[in-house]
Amino acid sequence: MINRQVLPCFISESQISSDEKILLELVKISEYETWLRKQDEFSLNWLITNNYKIKPYTFCLMPNQQGKIARVLVGCEDDLNLWSLSHLPKNVPVGFYALSSNYHEQWEKLALGWGLGAYQYDAFKKPEREAATLIIPNEQSLKTVQSQLQAIYLVRDLINTPAESMGPAELSFAAQALAKHYQAEFTEIIGNELVSKNFPAVYIVGRGSAREPRLLDIRWGDDTHPKVTLVGKGVCFDSGGLDIKTSAGMLLMKKDMGGAAHALGLASLIMDANLPIRLRVLIPAVENFISGTAYRPGDVIQTRKGLTVEIGNTDAEGRVILSDALAEASTESPELIIDFATLTGAARVATGTDIPAMFSNHQITADALFRHSKNECDLVWQMPLHQPYKELIKSEIADLNNNSGTPYAGAITAALFLESFVEETIPWVHFDLMAYNELEKPGRPKGGEAMGLRAVFRFLEEKYNL
Ligand code: BES
Ligand code: ZN
Ligand code: ZN
Repeated sequence: MINRQVLPCFISESQISSDEKILLELVKISEYETWLRKQDEFSLNWLITNNYKIKPYTFCLMPNQQGKIARVLVGCEDDLNLWSLSHLPKNVPVGFYALSSNYHEQWEKLALGWGLGAYQYDAFKKPEREAATLIIPNEQSLKTVQSQLQAIYLVRDLINTPAESMGPAELSFAAQALAKHYQAEFTEIIGNELVSKNFPAVYIVGRGSAREPRLLDIRWGDDTHPKVTLVGKGVCFDSGGLDIKTSAGMLLMKKDMGGAAHALGLASLIMDANLPIRLRVLIPAVENFISGTAYRPGDVIQTRKGLTVEIGNTDAEGRVILSDALAEASTESPELIIDFATLTGAARVATGTDIPAMFSNHQITADALFRHSKNECDLVWQMPLHQPYKELIKSEIADLNNNSGTPYAGAITAALFLESFVEETIPWVHFDLMAYNELEKPGRPKGGEAMGLRAVFRFLEEKYNL
C-alpha cells in the first residue's frame, strides 16, 4: 500500500511531444468577459453551442479545426485554490494537459489538487476510467506533491479497505510496511501480552473479537532530535460492543481506524521529508466486537496509568484504548503529543463532517495549527477543554466513567477523558475527526479522507525544519 503508484497522473514535459499537449486555460469568473472578447468567432460559437456558463469547477473542451481538443476552458474562482483543477482528472478525456507558464508559481498547489482528484479506490473493482495526466513544468516541486499524495492515498486506502480485509493484524502489516520503507523500528504487543505488559484497557476492549488486539509502536529518527509522539485510534470495526449500534450507525464503522490512518499518514510525511524529529507512533488496534468474552456495560477496568474506568457504554471504546496509549506516550515526556481519533458523533454535530474538532492544553500550538489549517485549505476548529464538564465523567465506583450519561458536550467530555491520561506539562493536541467524505466534492471522492493532515504537517515543518 505504501508503494501505491501515484505518478501516472503526472508526466514530465520532456516525455511528450508538443502536439500531444492540451492547454488548460484557467479563466477566473470576474475575468470571463475580457477573455471572451479575445476569442475568435469559431470559439464563441462553440461556447454558445455548448451552452457553457462559467462557474467554478466547470470546463469546456475547445476543439481545433480537425475536431481534436485544442485547449480546455476551466472556470475558476477568483482566488485559485487547492481544489481549482481537482474536478478535471476524472472528467476530461484521458490525455496530457498543460498549465500555461503564468501559473507555474502555483503549480504545487494545483498539482496536489489534481492528484487528489485522480484518486480511485480500486482494490475490488476496476476503475471506471483512467485519470487524465498533468504535465509537470518543474520536476523539483513534484517531490513535495508526490510525498503529500503518497501520504493521503495511504490514509484513504487504509480507511476505504473493508474491515474484513483491515483487521488489527492487517493494520499492523500496513504500519510495518511503512516503517520498513523508512528504516524505522517497529514493535508490537499482541493479545494476552497486553495484560502482562500493562495495557489492560487496550486488551479489554479488543477481547471480544476473534482478531486479537494489538499495540503498534513505530520509532524513527535521531535520538537527539525533539521527540514528537503521534497516537491514532485504531478501531478496525466498531460494532458498539454490547451497547450495539443501529444498522445505520454501524454501516460506516470500517472507518473507525481513521485516526490510526492519519497517524500513519503523518508519519509518512514526516519521514519522507526527513524532518529533524524523533518520532514515535502508537496505535492501539482493536475490533470492538460482541462475543462471550466481550466487555460489559457496568464493568470497571484498570488502565495503564492506574486510573480505574467504569464502562458506562461499550460504544465509547475509543477513549478507553487511547487512555493506555496516551499514558504510555506521556512516560517519555515528548515535546508534543498529537492524537487523531474518530471519537464522537457529537464532534460531527458540532463541526460537521469536514472540519476536525481540535482540542489542546497548549494554546500557542492550537493557534499555530489553526493558522496553518486556513492557509492549507484544511480547516480545523478548536473546541474548549472546559474543566467544569469533568463533573460529567465522574463515577461513583471508579476514577472516571467513559460515558457522561448526558446528551450534551459529548466531544468535550471525550476530550476531557483523554486529557486525564496525558501528563499536564506536555503540550498535547487531540483531533476528533470524521475521516470520511459522505458526499463527493471536487478532489474529495466519497470514502476515506485525510482531514487536518496537511495543516499539522505544515505546522511541524515550520516548527522543526529550521
Ligand atoms: N466511533 C464512534 C464515533 C463516531 C460515530 C465517529 C460516527 C464518527 C461518526 C465512537 O466509538 C462512538 O460510538 N462514540 C459514541 C460515544 C457515546 C456512546 C458516549 C457516540 O459518539 O455516540
Ligand atoms: Zn463506539
Ligand atoms: Zn469508535
